[in-house]
Amino acid sequence: MTQRRVLASSTGAAHARILGLGAYRPSVVVPNADLIERIDSTDEWIQQRSGIRQRRWADPEESVRVMGTAAARQAIERAGLDARQIDTVIVATISHLMQTPALATLIAHDLGTDQAAAFDISAACAGFCHGVSLASDLVRAGSAGHVLVIGVERLTDLTDPDDRGTAFIFADGAGAAVVGPSDTPGIAPVVWGSDGEQYDLIRQREDWRDVVASDSPVMPHLVMQGNAVFRWASFAMAKIGLQALDRAGIGVDELDCFVPHQANMRITDAMARSMKLPDTVRIARDIVDQGNTSAASIPLALERMYADGDARSGDTALLIAFGAGLAYAAQVVVLP
Ligand code: UT7
Repeated sequence: MTQRRVLASSTGAAHARILGLGAYRPSVVVPNADLIERIDSTDEWIQQRSGIRQRRWADPEESVRVMGTAAARQAIERAGLDARQIDTVIVATISHLMQTPALATLIAHDLGTDQAAAFDISAACAGFCHGVSLASDLVRAGSAGHVLVIGVERLTDLTDPDDRGTAFIFADGAGAAVVGPSDTPGIAPVVWGSDGEQYDLIRQREDWRDVVASDSPVMPHLVMQGNAVFRWASFAMAKIGLQALDRAGIGVDELDCFVPHQANMRITDAMARSMKLPDTVRIARDIVDQGNTSAASIPLALERMYADGDARSGDTALLIAFGAGLAYAAQVVVLP
C-alpha cells in the first residue's frame, strides 16, 4: 500500500487590521447646476432625492491607474510601510476598460512591488468590502503579509450623460487600505451575499459583442432601476448591518462610525433609522460633495470623516456596501 502524502498547510497572523487608508479625489468639481439642463432636472430635486450637491469627475489624465496608484501610495505611507512590503494587491473596480490583464498588476508595477500577487475583483459597489474581507483572510491564513486593497472607478466612462436616472449620481475617485497582521482583532467577520434574481436592476446595458455589432456603437453605459434598488437597499441592508454588528460581538451603542456605500443619502438615513443607531454614532455623508463612486466610495467617505474629525484611530466602524449583482458585504473594523 502506498502511503498517503500529507501536504504542508499555512498559518498566518492571529488577527488582521487596517494599517493605513488613502484616497484620491479627481480634479473636476461638477455642481448640480452643470448637469440639470441636459437631464431636465433641478438642483433642488437632485439634493432632495439623493443628497448630492456636487460630484468629482476625472480629467482625461486621471485614469483608474493614476487614481488607484495615488490612493495606494497614501495608504502605504500612512501604514508606515515601504511599497516593497506589500505582497498582494487587490483592485475592486468595474471601470477598468481593459478586460485583461488586471489593473492590479499595473498598479503593483507602478508602486514598485512587481513581485506582489495582483488581481482584480468584480463586485461593483460592494467591491471594497469584499476586498477587505479577502485581505483579512489572506493575512490570517498566511497567504499574504501585507495586502493592499484598492477601490477605484471612472464611472463617467460608463455613464450616459443624458440618462436622468444615473447621470447625476455616478462619479470618479479612488480609495485604498493596507491590511496587515495584528495582535488584536481589527476586522470582524464579514456578512456577505448576493441576489442574482435581481441581476438586471443595475447592469451594463449590453455586452461588448452587441456594441461591436451595432451600426452606431456607443459605450455600453450603466443602466439602473433606481427605485427598486433604493427599496432593496433601504430595507434589506439594515438587517445585514445588524448581522455584521452581531458577528463582531458589539451592539449599536459600542459603534463609533457608520460608513455605508455612498449611494444615496436617503438610503443612509433609512438604514441608520432601521438599525436604531444612537445619535452618538457618526455617519459618513461624503456623497454630498463626491457623488457615488461605487467601489471607491467607502474609503473616500472614511477619508472625509478623518478630515472632519468624525473618525479617529481606534474607533469602531461598520462598513456596508451594496450594488450591482445584487451583491453586498458588511464588516465592523477598528480604524487605523
Ligand atoms: O451604487 C449602487 C447602488 N445604487 C443605489 O443604491 C441607487 C438607488 N436609487 C436611488 O438613489 C434613487 O432611486 C434615485 C436617486 C436614482 C431616484 O430617486 P427616486 O426617488 O427613486 O425617483 P424615481 O425614479 O422614483 O422617480 C420619481 C420621479 C418621477 O416622476 P413622476 O413619475 O413621479 O412624475 C421621475 O420621472 O422623479 C422623476 N425623475 C426626475 N426628476 C428630475 C427621475 N429622474 C429625475 C431627475 N430629475 N434626474
